[in-house]
Amino acid sequence: MSGTCVIGLQWGDEAKGKIVDLLTREFDIVVRYQGGANAGHTVVVEGQVYKLHQIPSGVLSPGVMNVIGPGVVLNPPIVLQEIDALAGRGIALTDSLRISDRLHVVFPWHIAEDRAMNANPVGGESIGTTNRGIGPCYRDKYGRSHAIRLGDLYRPDFREKIEGIVEVKQRLLAQLDSTEVLDAGRIFDEFSGHAARLEPYVADTTNYLLDAVEAGRRVLFEGAQGAMLDIDHGTFPFVTSSNSSGVGVCAGSGVPPCWIKKVVGVVKGYTTRVGGGPFPTELTDETGERIRKLGNEYGTTTGRPRRCGWFDAVAVRYAARLSGVDSLAIMMMDVLSQLSEIKLCVAYELDGRRFETFPSHTDDLRRVKPVLEVLPGWLQDVRTARRIADLPDGARRYLDRVAELIGRPVEIVSVGPGREQTLFA
Ligand code: GDP
Ligand code: IMO
Ligand code: MG
Repeated sequence: MSGTCVIGLQWGDEAKGKIVDLLTREFDIVVRYQGGANAGHTVVVEGQVYKLHQIPSGVLSPGVMNVIGPGVVLNPPIVLQEIDALAGRGIALTDSLRISDRLHVVFPWHIAEDRAMNANPVGGESIGTTNRGIGPCYRDKYGRSHAIRLGDLYRPDFREKIEGIVEVKQRLLAQLDSTEVLDAGRIFDEFSGHAARLEPYVADTTNYLLDAVEAGRRVLFEGAQGAMLDIDHGTFPFVTSSNSSGVGVCAGSGVPPCWIKKVVGVVKGYTTRVGGGPFPTELTDETGERIRKLGNEYGTTTGRPRRCGWFDAVAVRYAARLSGVDSLAIMMMDVLSQLSEIKLCVAYELDGRRFETFPSHTDDLRRVKPVLEVLPGWLQDVRTARRIADLPDGARRYLDRVAELIGRPVEIVSVGPGREQTLFA
């Protein structure tokens, strides 16, 4: 059995979807295990673009089972829309999707609260969440008493649960200056309808995956977000509410660490970030704007322009160690190919001191100055390259330098969004 994980090592949107889709052909099962509809993973197959929010990126490979594990927070109407949209494109999931009955469900009050908190952040900068109700849903999960799991939707006391929670949430929303009106009866009816439609997919995925790994089946774990957005180890509080680095795989899926054999870390050749929070290598000048245009850096889920900057080896080295990364997938080399000069952040400076360890406090991270190394660009089109040897010398030197700084070999290089635009070492 091989348990392989695909983990983003920056602030999300590293192109994990593309890598998961590519690797899926060597696996029997693909698992999403944390996050929810805040994720937006893009897969491009023969020019057709698929944007997946909760459904694993293995769905475009026939014969693969796709699992949404207990660590995910599920938005039923969005997942049903995704199922319908895929069916409309000839991809039926009836026999190839299982959703954990243990996972927590995102309700309208979570989304209303997320919106209200974003609009009125306490003490300064907004986190700039995706407004998908992710934080409030995870908070209720850990709080336990006001949480509803998918399996609860099929129990006789579901209506009673909704009524009790709506009463509390309505008061909370009013305190947060939200004008949202919650109608318990309507929510019950709506979610009972979603439950009926989801029933064929609902399963005990924990035991399913334990049986699978023990039987030697090959499992690919698809991380959402990126390690720097990890709730415990990322740039708190400008993070998501789950363990989005490699450390989250086991907790979110129910598969113990002994089955994880390999971790692939995905990075762009530069850095992007959406939402608030410190970003040491951010480019707020013309070069940043250029990268945004060249890389089409607009959010898959919210359409927001992504903040762009140079590759940050201090952050990525930290993320790679934290995630137990064995090898790197370096994306967007076609974008870098259009820049005459490329910079890499190799260290930080703070109060006259130079260091290479990622700081634990956001206030310090805000104040660091990146120490930048300048490499000449190669200014040659790489989109038709099919082997690493086809790349210009400058591009290969860049990849070697990144591998050296991160201390991990480069296994995959991407020169465009298509499946065929991928070079394996
Ligand atoms: P994810 O959330 O990590 O799966 O990444 P997103 O799908 O949000 O964003 C990555 C974007 O980059 C998608 O639009 C991909 O189709 C696109 N993409 C993937 N690899 C490459 C590449 O090598 N070059 C370019 N130009 N685009 C790429
Ligand atoms: P994928 O899987 C990029 C960011 C949001 C915000 C912060 C918290 O496509 O890489 P949340 O809604 O999770 O409470 O928002 O995290 N964020 C992402 N940024 N890619 C994602 O997912 C993200 N999911 C959340 O922009 O800054
Ligand atoms: Mg994305």
